[in-house]
Amino acid sequence: MIEQIEEVKRKLLEEIESVKDEKQLEEFRIKYLGRRGIIQTFFDQFKEIPRLEKPTVGKFLNDLKKFAQAIFEDKKREIESSKRKVKRLIDLTIPGRFKYTGRKHPLTQTLEEIEKIFVGMGFEVASGPEIEDDYHNFEALNIPPEHPARDMQDTFFIKENIILRTHTSPVQIRVMESKQPPVRIIAPGRVYRNEAISARSYCLFHQVEGLYVDEGVSFAELKGTLLSFAKQMFGSDVKLRFRPSFFPFTEPSAEVDVSCFICGGKGCRVCKYGGWLEILGCGMVDPNVFRFVGYDSEKYTGYAFGMGVERIAMLKYGIDDIRLFYENDFRFLDQF
Ligand code: DAH
Repeated sequence: MIEQIEEVKRKLLEEIESVKDEKQLEEFRIKYLGRRGIIQTFFDQFKEIPRLEKPTVGKFLNDLKKFAQAIFEDKKREIESSKRKVKRLIDLTIPGRFKYTGRKHPLTQTLEEIEKIFVGMGFEVASGPEIEDDYHNFEALNIPPEHPARDMQDTFFIKENIILRTHTSPVQIRVMESKQPPVRIIAPGRVYRNEAISARSYCLFHQVEGLYVDEGVSFAELKGTLLSFAKQMFGSDVKLRFRPSFFPFTEPSAEVDVSCFICGGKGCRVCKYGGWLEILGCGMVDPNVFRFVGYDSEKYTGYAFGMGVERIAMLKYGIDDIRLFYENDFRFLDQF
């Protein structure tokens, strides 16, 4: 009988291989594990075998039953899971999963674009602290206490003489304090102003400062550098216009407009029908500033400029409210 049991075991293993679906599996179950199946027949015969053989044969028989059941259960699971898999494979209507990739904030993109242009023209990138002292933010920039120019920039005070910088110009002072000419740097960074928040002004924004000091640096070079910047930033057809202006730290000073790159200067909504867009302030470094940092103003001249990054991004992308940059509204950010 043991031989027969072993034979059944081999056959059962062979047959399970060809079981492919639930119907065949049920046939398999009835044939081997059913109430009148092969294994039950062995149990019926078991009663008739000699008592001495019972323990050994009994063990083989029980093993066979367990084995058959295990094989049956395995196959059942296999069929069920492959049914599930097949379902998933053939459902071609499920939409693909959209993966959001992160990207840079429009201000960072604009800032990096500005940086890249100036680095390409030989400028180094410098930085300074956002918490500044009165001396670097005002005094050494030729803005003494009580000077009316201080009113142009509403200041956040941390304590007496310690403020949040109102512009990136103090980085000019820090760079010149730390090294002798030639210096050719840009200083991108955050600045803070205690102003009423509106579509046009926010309590913090970004500027890029520029400074070039060496022997014989001229206003003509300033114009050439800024024109090259404007062409790379806004398009090769743009023109620049320099309007006389005043800043305490430059003399002479100018405000610079770029011809409207939307309408080509003919007049449109973006340039408010004037054909020009103001983009920055600039000038030749005032000799008083050189005196504060210990540069020889007889030997060296220099130019400086400062621009607002938000303003440039707003012009470039046609954004009409500065607050959008700071609200983290995904519908806005998603467009860049
Ligand atoms: N610091 C000025 C501001 O925040 C901008 C500026 C104007 C910077 C002229 C300069 C400059 O370096 O030469 O309004």
